[in-house]
Amino acid sequence: MESSEKVVIAFDLYGTLLSTDSIADELATIYGGDKAQSLATVWRRYQLEYTWRINSMGQYKSFSEITRNALAHAVAEHGLTLAVSDAARLMTAYDALHVFPEIPAAMKLLQGNKDAVSAHIFSNGTDQMVGSSIRTSPELSPHADIFQSLITVDGLRCFKPDPRTYAHLVEQSGKKGHPGDVWVVSANPFDVAGAKAAGLKSAFIDRQGQGWIDRLDEMYMPTLIAGGVDQAIKSILNY
Ligand code: LAC
Repeated sequence: MESSEKVVIAFDLYGTLLSTDSIADELATIYGGDKAQSLATVWRRYQLEYTWRINSMGQYKSFSEITRNALAHAVAEHGLTLAVSDAARLMTAYDALHVFPEIPAAMKLLQGNKDAVSAHIFSNGTDQMVGSSIRTSPELSPHADIFQSLITVDGLRCFKPDPRTYAHLVEQSGKKGHPGDVWVVSANPFDVAGAKAAGLKSAFIDRQGQGWIDRLDEMYMPTLIAGGVDQAIKSILNY
């Protein structure tokens, strides 16, 4: 099959392939098991909030700075302190997050459908963060070659869901002028909605089984909903 006939699927990274909760193990070694989960959740919340705030302000900091500063906010909110060496260790661990349970099956599915799918990573992460994550993850690294490109937004100096990020994905995946030919697979509702708003197709990974409960506007509803990334790939291939 010619590459232009392949279905283009872009996979969000943090929260979709990689579990941002998996950093809790590293947090537990510093702050103890009882605070670790809450710290991981609040860290992720501020990481995303900071991207949206800085987008609205028309300013920019790299996702790596955003992530480090969000960690400092989460730690302070818990009334704890953050040693410089611990911050460095946590940031290194952030480049080696664990995947969600169904991801190995999803990678096998992509390997088996190489001729039918043009797969990409599409993330807010910097080239360095995304590159390290794909290379160091024991579950992703053996399949790194199935991703035709690691598409990041660092060069644009804005984050999802700014429409420029989706236009960049469409262009980088060889579909300029045809956003409807590009699928975004994401467990992050704001990313799913952002892709739809920019004219792309979207598959929402609904691991909680709650369905699409985002109510910003019906027009941003996902093209399809799947319980896991493996299921999403199957549904896209049958779409
Ligand atoms: C990403 C964010 C959405 O990987 O977590 O782009």
